Amino acid sequence: MNSMSNVPGDNPDNSLPIGLLQRFREYAYERYGIHFHDAKIDILKMKLQKMSSLHGFSLPGFYSLLATGDPDAGELFLGEIAVGHTFFFRESDHFTHLVTDITNRSLQHPVVWCAASSSGEEPYSIVISLLEAGIHSFKVLASDVKPEALAAIHRGRYHVNQLQNVDASLRKRYFTRLDEYTFAVRPELRKYLAIKRLNLHESFFFETPFDYVFCRNVMIYFDERGRNRVLHTLVDNLSPKGVLYVGHSEALLTTTPNIRKEGPASYRRVG
Ligand SMILES: C[S@@+](CC[C@H](N)C(=O)[O-])C[C@H]1O[C@@H](n2cnc3c(N)ncnc32)[C@H](O)[C@@H]1O
Repeated sequence: MNSMSNVPGDNPDNSLPIGLLQRFREYAYERYGIHFHDAKIDILKMKLQKMSSLHGFSLPGFYSLLATGDPDAGELFLGEIAVGHTFFFRESDHFTHLVTDITNRSLQHPVVWCAASSSGEEPYSIVISLLEAGIHSFKVLASDVKPEALAAIHRGRYHVNQLQNVDASLRKRYFTRLDEYTFAVRPELRKYLAIKRLNLHESFFFETPFDYVFCRNVMIYFDERGRNRVLHTLVDNLSPKGVLYVGHSEALLTTTPNIRKEGPASYRRVG
């Protein structure tokens, strides 16, 4: 029995006074950098009330558990607030750029970090792109803050809707069709991945820098202060001449230290 079953819930009180909503909002921001600005506060409210009705617990009781660091409550909350929408070969020009750049720089053992990789479509797209280009010696670190996202990467099973950008020949080479709706990535793809839980809101430093960092479609959930902090962590972990890819809707100010705009939503480390 997990701790969530101890939250009173026979007659769930899913009313959400503004003070309590504010505390949930602060928790999301302080813990994960996820910022619900005023125009989005109703979205947070809706998510919490949906969760409360679905699981039958009261929101004040749930907040108490969250605030004491209960891992089950933390995971449930994170599952609601961290949007995981993704698909294979999203913003595919970045994968083409990656392959061309590795080839141009004659990198022998490129290392790539796919931060906020969600359920794995993005890191597996990187693996497939490199294998297709005849590059076989490389490593991809896939990280996300959500445990359920990491479990999905390990599982490697995807609904057919996620594969709309994967053409028939790639499907044949890199996936096994399990049924009408489900594809599994071939197990040999897994060996190129390291999978790790990382909260981008915390700063960390890897001993070996990455040649390429993908951090796409997550910074839109952070405020400017959070974005700048994350950006510093990413750039600090990028090798000289390494490339940072962000989401196409997340173009960064080119005043960010040590990077120069290279192409659409891609930046090269220059210092
Ligand atoms: C919309 S998905 C983007 C997935 C993929 N990068 C893409 O572009 O398709 C955003 C991901 O960011 C993750 N995320 C949100 N806040 C995070 C944080 N503080 N640290 C690490 N990952 C975070 C979420 O769990 C989610 O999987």
